[in-house]
Amino acid sequence: MACKVLVLPGDGIGPEIVREALKVLRPLGDRFSFEEALVGGASIDAYGVPIKEEVLDLAKKSDAVLLGAVGGPKWEDLDYSVRPERALLALRKELGAFGNLRPAKVFSPLIDASPLKREVIEGIDLLVVRELTGGIYFGEPRGVERLPDGRERGLNTLVYHDHEVERIARLAFEVAGKRRRKVTSVDKANVLESTELWRKVVTRVHREYEGIELNHMYVDNCAMQLIREPGQFDVILTTNMFGDILSDEAAMLTGSIGMLPSASLGGGVGIFEPIHGSAPDIAGKNRANPLATILSAAMMLRYAFSMDREALAIERAVEEVLERGYRTPDIYSEGTKMVSCSEMGDRVVEALEEILSRI
Ligand code: IPM
Ligand code: MG
Repeated sequence: MACKVLVLPGDGIGPEIVREALKVLRPLGDRFSFEEALVGGASIDAYGVPIKEEVLDLAKKSDAVLLGAVGGPKWEDLDYSVRPERALLALRKELGAFGNLRPAKVFSPLIDASPLKREVIEGIDLLVVRELTGGIYFGEPRGVERLPDGRERGLNTLVYHDHEVERIARLAFEVAGKRRRKVTSVDKANVLESTELWRKVVTRVHREYEGIELNHMYVDNCAMQLIREPGQFDVILTTNMFGDILSDEAAMLTGSIGMLPSASLGGGVGIFEPIHGSAPDIAGKNRANPLATILSAAMMLRYAFSMDREALAIERAVEEVLERGYRTPDIYSEGTKMVSCSEMGDRVVEALEEILSRI
């Protein structure tokens, strides 16, 4: 039976980058069946809601979800409860995708695309494990209210239950076991009680994982260490909001936010999407970098379908295309060849076909 993939291109550059990822999956044959649906602003325009119940149901019945990006200035004035971003949060929550893996790896041909010095970023290979269905993104109470004196008050709640911390910590220790066996848990335990609990629970779960090193770091220090000495990190385990921020920072180490894929796991159905947004300023111009989405498709093959060999082949194809000097504008530097979004997809397909014919 073909693997059922729900494709949600979304808004802005979403449709262009997802198109390239699907192109790259094509040489792998008819192992997949794709169904497409609207999400985010596109769904608001068509149906008045960021994601329809039917689409959530469809997602639950799929084997994996491949997503582009959501949001844009057109929908920024809407109420929070119906903004495009709600679609993402609803999907994550409904699918129980509590563990978000965001690998940041420096591809050696891109070293000069990073704003940081070569010696700082050479060999970076870290993984942000971000808690994705709890914390301040979901905590209640929330909202903006008018007080009796006429002033307004905005409120969000940072809340973590011990079991939420336990399961994300387990995921981090398990993936660390397949890497360099080092976990840095990032919190703000000097100020926030909820993350004091986070630290306590992570420390307790760690006792079950012999041979894995654990250290704790405050988030402000981590933001600094990522720039100062990123090579010290293997797995960064952190909360929903800290992970959102630190993964964008980690992305820039690798040259461009257009390079970072992600996998959101935990429930039966995983979500695979680039970490970047919908980039409305370049949408529809065929200038976007599709590599993060292509690499997300590779993560889908690995984590949803256990197709390790094929996932590696796609990752290798991306590396080869970069070695051959092809660059979208975001990673362009002098002496390399600038290509469009669709051409980048074509180049990856070309390299992938060569690799598949060799193995
Ligand atoms: C991300 C994005 C989302 C998030 C937004 C679009 C809701 O920034 O996946 O990092 O904050 O989780
Ligand atoms: Mg983000």
